Amino acid sequence: MALLSVQNVTMRFGGLLANDQISFDVPQGSIYAVIGPNGAGKTTLFNSIAGALVPTSGAVVFDGQPITGLPQASIASRGLIRTYQLVQLFKDLTVAENVEIGFHRVTRGGVLSALLRPRWAREQDARIAREARELLAFVGLGDQGDLVADKLPYGRQRLLEVARALAADPKLILLDEPAAGLNTQETAALADVIQRVNARGVTVLLIEHDMGLVMKVAQRIAVLDFGKTIAEGAPDEIRRNPDVLAAYLGGVEMIDG
Ligand SMILES: Nc1ncnc2c1ncn2[C@@H]1O[C@H](COP(=O)(O)OP(=O)(O)O)[C@@H](O)[C@H]1O
Ligand SMILES: [Mg+2]
Repeated sequence: MALLSVQNVTMRFGGLLANDQISFDVPQGSIYAVIGPNGAGKTTLFNSIAGALVPTSGAVVFDGQPITGLPQASIASRGLIRTYQLVQLFKDLTVAENVEIGFHRVTRGGVLSALLRPRWAREQDARIAREARELLAFVGLGDQGDLVADKLPYGRQRLLEVARALAADPKLILLDEPAAGLNTQETAALADVIQRVNARGVTVLLIEHDMGLVMKVAQRIAVLDFGKTIAEGAPDEIRRNPDVLAAYLGGVEMIDG
């Protein structure tokens, strides 16, 4: 069954067709990757899926329900959670507090309960603090919870973003170039985390430039170029596809390596 179905999604910015009739299905429980050169339209597509943009035409179906054009918060509350191409953390808060914020969509209360602090709110805070620590341990940041997020090395900030996204208890997690700026070792750690996230039952949709990572973790891949899908299939098919090789010309070594 498809957890996410992208159906003929088109996004036009003035004269630029950033996404042109994009269609693919992300099977429940899978790791699916969208790849393509810079400017191919990957982030735009993510924005249409996550509700940051309303596509010009086409439909997005998540968990059996149309979500096209719904507000981001409404889409997130259905269990579709994204991370950003540029890290977006609360730099002055601690690592653990950044994860605690991620629990927000699944908790009761708000400003009022924070002021009045009824017992259930205090119990909830304690539970969130405990679960945030568990998620940090899960992504390999178990001993860095008390550090100010800004002090965390960049590669670990990306892992922290994953932990925060997991706090929202997603069915589908959208990762926009999570390996950007990571070294080989950090990328390997990230690949491991992505696979373990998936093993928890979370479906993963990944935009990635790092071909090694994609070939390692993804079960299926869609390739975008100039806003169009030029190939879709299993990693072995994609690796050999002449259109894909042409789109990455000058970057062919990324596919081989
Ligand atoms: N809000 C926007 N307004 C106008 N053009 C945009 C906007 N967002 C993206 N674009 C353009 O759409 C194209 C695809 O961009 P993007 O989706 O960011 O590509 P990718 O993530 O694959 O690098 C680019 O030419 C980009 O300049
Ligand atoms: Mg992008």
